[in-house]
Amino acid sequence: MKSSKILMGLGLAGTCVAAALAAEPAQQALQKPEWAYAVPTSPPTPAPPRDQTLHSLPGTDRKFTWDQVQGRRPPGFTGQVGPADWFPNEHPPMPDIVAYGDPARGILPCALCHYPSGKGRSENASVAGLPKEYMVQTMRDMRDGLRVSAEPRKANAGLMVRFAKAMTDAEMEASAGYYASIPWTPHVKVVESRTGPKVRNLGGLLLPHEGAQAGVEPLGKRILEVTEDGERTELRDPHSPFIAYVPIGTLAKGKALVTTGGRGRTVACGACHGEDLNGIGPIPGIAGRSPSYIARQLNDLRQGTRRGPWAPLMTGVVQNLTDEDILNISAYVAAQPPAPTGGTNAPRR
Ligand code: HEC
Ligand code: HEC
Repeated sequence: MKSSKILMGLGLAGTCVAAALAAEPAQQALQKPEWAYAVPTSPPTPAPPRDQTLHSLPGTDRKFTWDQVQGRRPPGFTGQVGPADWFPNEHPPMPDIVAYGDPARGILPCALCHYPSGKGRSENASVAGLPKEYMVQTMRDMRDGLRVSAEPRKANAGLMVRFAKAMTDAEMEASAGYYASIPWTPHVKVVESRTGPKVRNLGGLLLPHEGAQAGVEPLGKRILEVTEDGERTELRDPHSPFIAYVPIGTLAKGKALVTTGGRGRTVACGACHGEDLNGIGPIPGIAGRSPSYIARQLNDLRQGTRRGPWAPLMTGVVQNLTDEDILNISAYVAAQPPAPTGGTNAPRR
């Protein structure tokens, strides 16, 4: 019994066996909640020329140019270069692979997308406070072709797979151990609304329009997760919060599915992810994380493009979900507070 062996390995036998027994590969017509992937529909607008102006952010006295924010190598410089670290006091010293990546193997610094503190953004992933064992496993899945995005146009997810294929086991251990040691804290506010701001799409990141283009539009059936402050987020400010607009009534419907399983539609999440959804042992916390990210994962699991050795535990959860269920569940989960310690899995400080 493959899945019960996995359960034993995870120390969860008994609690979730029934769910795991329902594990059959999802046979659904390929469909996806488009909003969760935010694939840009128009070619990227060329970035404005970046000069040597020094930029600053609230809460730090550090200053960086655009090139330094992005970790671009100055001409002729051969040493290691990493993206700006605005708040070095908020995380332990970074392993080299996190701070600098390895240009020789085409590995970008993890800190570029996930930030030095692992906060991440809606278009990638929040890795702070996830269990180390889980992160190592999921990177192995990517390396072994068992975890890809259900949306082939999601370019950054493709890059992530490429990095996992180029990383050594030691680098996976070091980067996962590092991000696991940083508590997860709130980063997104979930608001029920009939409307949301008009946005522009920067590689899957949604920024509110400014100036003459600013305005609101009907929300419809989607989650619109957007940064509150476009400029701070473009400067990669890990404190720049996100706001997720969700349709009216979403949270109550999500709560019913998450806490009861919705009369067999899905499986209550608490047995495996913890009653507070902040994770148990190697099972990742999901509370208070990006609802777009959560929805992408539920859909990828449902479509079977995420099919590592731990994925069968999620099959009974996702196989009967409709797109609307995914919307409702993701909104509710994202609205739950991270545990005060930063997650059941996070170290007590
Ligand atoms: C180009 C941006 C980028 C860089 C650089 C990057 N990642 Fe990622 N990472 C992503 C994206 C995108 C995803 C998956 C998002 C999705 O599936 O929608 C991801 C997912 C992950 C996950 C899975 C998170 C989860 O909850 O399952 C881990 C772990 C991870 N990355 C670790 C790393 C490490 C370690 C490095 C450095 C070697 C790194 N990443 C570098 C973009 C990046
Ligand atoms: C039977 C145990 C079990 C139950 C019940 C369960 N999960 Fe999971 N979940 C897992 C495991 C194990 C993984 C890791 C799967 C993998 O990496 O392949 C996971 C992964 C996830 C992920 C991806 C996390 C990430 O960081 O990428 C999300 C999102 C998720 N679950 C949401 C839910 C929700 C929402 C529910 C309830 C509706 C739920 N799960 C119920 C075991 C469970």
